[in-house]
Amino acid sequence: MGLIAAVIVSALAILSFAAATQVTLHSTGTTFVLGNVSYFAPPSPVSRIGFFGLPELLSLVGSSTGSLVPFSVIPTSESDFDDSALDVVAKAWSASDDVWSTSFMTGLYIKYNGTGHKPSVSLSSSAKSKYAVKFLTSSSSYSGGIALTNSLPSGPYLLEPATGNIFEVYRLYNDEQQSFVYGTVPNGNGGFQVASAKTSGAATESIPVPSRLYFTPTAEKPFAGYRLGVKDIYDVQGLHTGCGNRAYWALYPPKTQTAPAVQRLLDGGMVLVGKTKSSQFANGEVATDDWVDLHAPYNPRGDGYQDGSSSSTGSGTAMAAYSWLDFAIGSDTGGSMRGPSGANGVFGNRPSHGAISTDDVMPLSPELDTLGIFSRDAKLWTQAGHWWYQNFTSYSQYPKKILFPVDSFGSSYLAEPPAPGTVGATFNAFITQLEGFLGTTRTEINLTTMWDSTKPSNVSSTLREFLNTTYPTLITTDQIALLAEPFFRDYAAATGGRKPFIDPAPLTRWDYGWSLPASAHNEAIVEKTTFMDWFQKEIVPGGVPDTCSDAIFLYPQSSGGTTYRNAYPGPPTTPFGFSSGRIAVFAETPDMVVPVGEAAYNSTITGQIEYLPVTLSFITAKNCDLMLFNLFAALQDADVIKPVVTGSRVFEVPPTTYIS
Ligand SMILES: *[C@@H]1O[C@H](CO)[C@@H](O)[C@H](O)[C@H]1NC(C)=O
Ligand SMILES: *[C@@H]1O[C@H](CO)[C@@H](O)[C@H](O)[C@H]1NC(C)=O
Ligand SMILES: *[C@@H]1O[C@H](CO)[C@@H](O)[C@H](O)[C@H]1NC(C)=O
Ligand SMILES: *[C@@H]1O[C@H](CO)[C@@H](O)[C@H](O)[C@H]1NC(C)=O
Ligand SMILES: *[C@@H]1O[C@H](CO)[C@@H](O)[C@H](O)[C@H]1NC(C)=O
Ligand SMILES: *[C@@H]1O[C@H](CO)[C@@H](O)[C@H](O)[C@H]1NC(C)=O
Ligand SMILES: *[C@@H]1O[C@H](CO)[C@@H](O)[C@H](O)[C@H]1NC(C)=O
Repeated sequence: MGLIAAVIVSALAILSFAAATQVTLHSTGTTFVLGNVSYFAPPSPVSRIGFFGLPELLSLVGSSTGSLVPFSVIPTSESDFDDSALDVVAKAWSASDDVWSTSFMTGLYIKYNGTGHKPSVSLSSSAKSKYAVKFLTSSSSYSGGIALTNSLPSGPYLLEPATGNIFEVYRLYNDEQQSFVYGTVPNGNGGFQVASAKTSGAATESIPVPSRLYFTPTAEKPFAGYRLGVKDIYDVQGLHTGCGNRAYWALYPPKTQTAPAVQRLLDGGMVLVGKTKSSQFANGEVATDDWVDLHAPYNPRGDGYQDGSSSSTGSGTAMAAYSWLDFAIGSDTGGSMRGPSGANGVFGNRPSHGAISTDDVMPLSPELDTLGIFSRDAKLWTQAGHWWYQNFTSYSQYPKKILFPVDSFGSSYLAEPPAPGTVGATFNAFITQLEGFLGTTRTEINLTTMWDSTKPSNVSSTLREFLNTTYPTLITTDQIALLAEPFFRDYAAATGGRKPFIDPAPLTRWDYGWSLPASAHNEAIVEKTTFMDWFQKEIVPGGVPDTCSDAIFLYPQSSGGTTYRNAYPGPPTTPFGFSSGRIAVFAETPDMVVPVGEAAYNSTITGQIEYLPVTLSFITAKNCDLMLFNLFAALQDADVIKPVVTGSRVFEVPPTTYIS
């Protein structure tokens, strides 16, 4: 009895304390559904209707419209804005923007930007009823228009009649592939915050994207309005950097600055729409069982149940799945851009080492870390590369030498000619077109034998033996020193000496690193440098006038093979060994992935024939990245390279010959 009384007394005390305290409501914006589409309006207004216009507007909108009114700001330089002008705008905007729709024509604010006199807006009643227009006004005082406190760009908006406040509009998209950690919106202080909005009834994250109509690309901001996803290892002001680890995400506070590499893209006008998932600490993880802290994103190609490769998995799968996303960035230390490009069938690059600042990006191995960008269109990709990588010289002539390493392509591609419908035939068809474009023929080489015959005299081992432990030694010793040990210390200090949970893949690798003698790192640097010098001297020399690189070195990036998400590949292992994918890693060269076809397989998931991407890797000498970008843009103009589309199939017009 006494105890119950005491509990009641303390509950009352809490109540009276709460009542005495000011209750603060913090608006996180508004979500709404219009024409079956979910939208989000951020909490801060971007403009307001001037005092004199408001009563007039309120009477037009009427009380039945509800508390918020969708409307459109429509620019015109015509002195007469009439029915046909409105039809032209409605048609053009429906086609060019995925956020605006005719549902935003409840209100029309015609923004006159011409210089003539007495502009007038005259819409017939049939046009008004066709688009369900409730109010029509303009910026022109000649036609009794009303003023806004801030001038607004074209596009869809939301008006709060009670206050005259005007809000921007974002469309909400479901993240069905689970590619994102979360969506983001600007926080009003130059940084970003996690978007609090969800599409109506959604069970996944929702990603808000602003109307493209708000933005006009210019020379200073060539990417204005282009939507960008950023791998969650880059710091962004206002957001945590999670690196795929829950404990790491929770331990460290939101970042106070944005990585210069991200800032460069924002400066170009790109719009950050969300953080994408990384496998843990950018180490290789295979879907699904290696992904303990996060659930692996879904690769949309084929049956939708193939591994999306790692570590830039979220960025790669999102680009292959979402037409509303224009670019996504990731990183590549040992294949983290190239693997996802190949598996998801999108353009993606590992640039030359040192291409752009890696400050404020989680390190794996600074000697090997690079930052790359995904695209579905070779020309947009080229434009982005020119903008992002400012250190390089551009070249518009191309090498006349195509190196075709037989040991990378393997014997199945060497049949003369390869059997129709095989992956070998797909590679061969593309390379034949490339030969035609460059006016040359491929030079077959065997990298393994080249090494044996031209390697430095103080090296006795084969390529595979010599470089077997170089990669795991560098990534583990570096990441232990730069990330694991400080993280363990900080976590222990914050949790009474506890250790954080680490996924099996990074932990297996770090365990290897902890077992190495102190001398291992320097030995690995000697191996890396030896290979780099040899590759530059014997295989692909640089510094060539006009073409930058002596040659273009090709190898298969993905060949349409399956890696089912529901297979158990066994515990993760230390990434020993050497393969073509390590060339650029050690030689510091670019390695850029281009989708060239598809391969058929009989899916154990769907029980039907499905198709997976076939992609080629292009290597040149170091710092010749812009030459390759320019080549890809030219190849797309020549219809040799084709842009890719989103969804199960890679190309808009699928190739016709397949394995039957
Ligand atoms: C809205 O979506 C539902 C369910 O998908 C559909 O039945 C309905 O026709 C749609 N309505 C409009 C106006 O598009
Ligand atoms: C005025 O708006 C029209 C229609 O959008 C546009 O084509 C034109 O470039 C604009 N003129 C100026 C000076 O901004
Ligand atoms: C140019 O390269 C240097 C050296 O890697 C790097 O520090 C710098 O940030 C790069 N500049 C730009 C604009 O990316
Ligand atoms: C490349 O050379 C190695 C070593 O000489 C040899 O074992 C291998 O079969 C060659 N590969 C091809 C495809 O010819
Ligand atoms: C081979 O000799 C060169 C020149 O002395 C040296 O720089 C290099 O580190 C040596 N390489 C190996 C693998 O010992
Ligand atoms: C690579 O190193 C691992 C671990 O030491 C060893 O098991 C493997 O046999 C080595 N492979 C080669 C080709 O040297
Ligand atoms: C695909 O595999 C299933 C199951 O093995 C089989 O029943 C089906 O006939 C195969 N389809 C083709 C086109 O080979």
